[in-house]
Amino acid sequence: MLCYRGDVLLALFVCPLACLPVSPCPPGCCCPGPGFLVLCESLGLRSLPRSVPLGTSALSVARNRLCNVDHLLRAFSGLQELSLSHNLLARFPRGLPPSLESLLLQENRITYITSGALRQLRNLTRLHLEDNRIRAIQPGALLGLQQLRVLTLKGNQLTRLPANLPPSLTRLDLSENCISSLELPSLAALVNLQVLQINSNCLRTVPESTFDSLPRLRSVDLTDNLWACECDILYLYRWLLSGGLDVATDLVCKEPVHLAHRLLLDLSVVSICPRVLRPNDEASPRSSEDHIKQSPKYTPLLLFSFETVSFSGLSAIFKQLKPKLIGYISTLMSQLTERQSRCTYYEGGKND
Ligand SMILES: *[C@@H]1O[C@H](CO)[C@@H](O)[C@H](O)[C@H]1NC(C)=O
Repeated sequence: MLCYRGDVLLALFVCPLACLPVSPCPPGCCCPGPGFLVLCESLGLRSLPRSVPLGTSALSVARNRLCNVDHLLRAFSGLQELSLSHNLLARFPRGLPPSLESLLLQENRITYITSGALRQLRNLTRLHLEDNRIRAIQPGALLGLQQLRVLTLKGNQLTRLPANLPPSLTRLDLSENCISSLELPSLAALVNLQVLQINSNCLRTVPESTFDSLPRLRSVDLTDNLWACECDILYLYRWLLSGGLDVATDLVCKEPVHLAHRLLLDLSVVSICPRVLRPNDEASPRSSEDHIKQSPKYTPLLLFSFETVSFSGLSAIFKQLKPKLIGYISTLMSQLTERQSRCTYYEGGKND
């Protein structure tokens, strides 16, 4: 549509240029907003078009064959939006104008982000870097971008959460990387974060209290990771059950082998972490009755187990069994204890 309008404008330029008090449009480009918006897309360009008016505030040279635009755009002192997406850039462009607010660099071949390249881009609010080959971001490289709201790094090769991201971020897309751990200090700094996408990564668990320091968070996607449904995942399990946010809850366990392909939230606490049943590491086996009676530590555990076991339909059972509740509880406890003793060997030497 825009290009059609551009063609119309281009046709106007065929008449004597002197008649038209507008900036000329570079050959082959579309200028739907002459002097303001210049679109030079899909032209097979290997270098920037020469005659882009200096006063342009939005320029797209997307879908070309640009390898390097370093320092070529510095003179565009009013340029606010720039798309260099779908090109062949092997590194983050140097010498971009500090007026930039939106920078689109998706689908290039960028491998690293170093601090120098972004230092002057203090007005940047949106930075799109998806579908590059980014393996690492120098810690703090983005910290100077104090207005940055949206950062997309989807589809790169990151193995860890970038350190020192700017606290102004409201939306962070890290999906389709292979991030294997969330460092708490890096995440906790993002006090304005509303949307976090970290689906399709290599997370096995998240640290205790990961999401507790993000007051604005309203949407999180954690699906399609390598979740290890073991004791360490109980924080995430409880956080998901606590609800409130827009979170996909269908997290599939990858490990341990006997729980592979199960949905995390279909499991009970005890099947995830048998050792929650064990008051301490006493070796002497006692009957389950004795355990319940003699160990005061079971009282809160009992309540907790019921709260979570009931997630998969126990409330219905409760209604039916109300009169026999006491009997039911002790039956359940002995079952759980049995299961625990069956599973204890699985844990092997991992007891702490
Ligand atoms: C950055 O944004 C502020 C506020 O909109 C503006 O006054 C300033 O001129 C901008 N800086 C540059 C280098 O364009």
